[in-house]
Amino acid sequence: MRVLLIGSGGREHALAWKLAQSPLLTALYAAPGNPGIAEEATLVDLDTSDNGAVLAFCRKEAIDFVVVGPEAPLVAGLADTLREGGITVFGPSAAAAQLEGSKGFTKDICAKYSIPTGAYQRFTDAEPAKAYIREQGAPIVIKADGLAAGKGVTVAMTLDEALDAVDNCFSGTFGAAGAEVVVEAYLDGEEASFFCLCDGKTALALASAQDHKRVGDGDTGPNTGGMGAYSPAPVMTAEMVERTMREIIEPTIAGMADSGHPFTGVLFAGLMITQKGPELIEYNVRFGDPECQVLMMRLKSDLLQLLHAAATGTLSAVSAEWRDEAALTVVMASKGYPGSFEKNTPITSLPREEAATKVFHAGTALRDGQLIATGGRVLNVTATGATVSAAQETAYAALDRVEWDNGFCRRDIGWQAVEREKA
Ligand code: AMP
Ligand code: GLY
Repeated sequence: MRVLLIGSGGREHALAWKLAQSPLLTALYAAPGNPGIAEEATLVDLDTSDNGAVLAFCRKEAIDFVVVGPEAPLVAGLADTLREGGITVFGPSAAAAQLEGSKGFTKDICAKYSIPTGAYQRFTDAEPAKAYIREQGAPIVIKADGLAAGKGVTVAMTLDEALDAVDNCFSGTFGAAGAEVVVEAYLDGEEASFFCLCDGKTALALASAQDHKRVGDGDTGPNTGGMGAYSPAPVMTAEMVERTMREIIEPTIAGMADSGHPFTGVLFAGLMITQKGPELIEYNVRFGDPECQVLMMRLKSDLLQLLHAAATGTLSAVSAEWRDEAALTVVMASKGYPGSFEKNTPITSLPREEAATKVFHAGTALRDGQLIATGGRVLNVTATGATVSAAQETAYAALDRVEWDNGFCRRDIGWQAVEREKA
């Protein structure tokens, strides 16, 4: 199979690394890719926001299958253009990608199909939103409706904070994404990320992970795209997985098909495991980054076969096998991230890879043969181990061999699982 992978992050490096292991693969291209992905794929200089250009490339290179990594091209209809052009693609239509693109859309699906989630209201004006917030009281959660790069959510512990968040959304901070606001009940519990493949009618459970969204140790400081992750998430016991499939994922898949937008691709459920059980915080329509990196380290099955089955409506014929080991990844970011940071700083040395470790590249580039950091999140130092504690130790030992003066990381990735393992 001739495959094109869209994206350039650590997630896509992990996907490329795993796709490259498939006996079904005959050629792997990636656009735009990064130096890590270049070890597995031929990089293509293609404007991935130009759907027509991607289709033309697929035709020219006789691409059989396109795997879309990030959400932006999906929300912009890349999968629709490719499918209309006769190309098999892993990733939802723009209509189905609204599960990530519009929080209000997702909440309405939850309400219609009785999927457990926080009670909510949608608003297009500040005053009624504020009146509702005063009625409900704090803590309460304010969300810009659209894609806001993970920054559109305020978990307000006080009424004043909540009212300010409403003004902030409607003042245009998030552009069009903030034209509508969702106000939602605060859910108390432990968060987990849960991933399933979907082919429009069937869902295949993959695995769980836990992310670390805050930039600082002890979960302090501003939110980021994710500073590290591990898999599996101990809170996602077999019973919790079974309930999540039955109460949340399966009704969503049935509801999307029923409303004329069957979902194909990977469904990433952000869950809060509360006293009552699993509740949906949000959906994403792509793999998590850095959650994908730890999932790929644990996946034993052929990724290409699984993704192709999701894209062709044949998921019920395949199954996913996982290693029993835990996997953990630590993100190294440019100093200053998620604020402003210096670009093009040199990374002078990476650790030698061993069986249990892998460094996935995110915001890196090569300049005159020198590896440089070009992004906020730059490297994902990833390891497996018999326990999360063991994976953590191996990952940090490898990370300490990275030579990059402008890089930093959290030192406590996996702390919740490590504490459980000690107890
Ligand atoms: P989201 O972008 O929807 O994932 O929200 C970002 C983060 O805000 C989540 O990962 C949670 O930590 C938190 N959050 C979102 N919604 C809620 C909620 N209803 N209750 C508590 N925390 C929430
Ligand atoms: N790591 C969180 C995300 O990919 O949205």
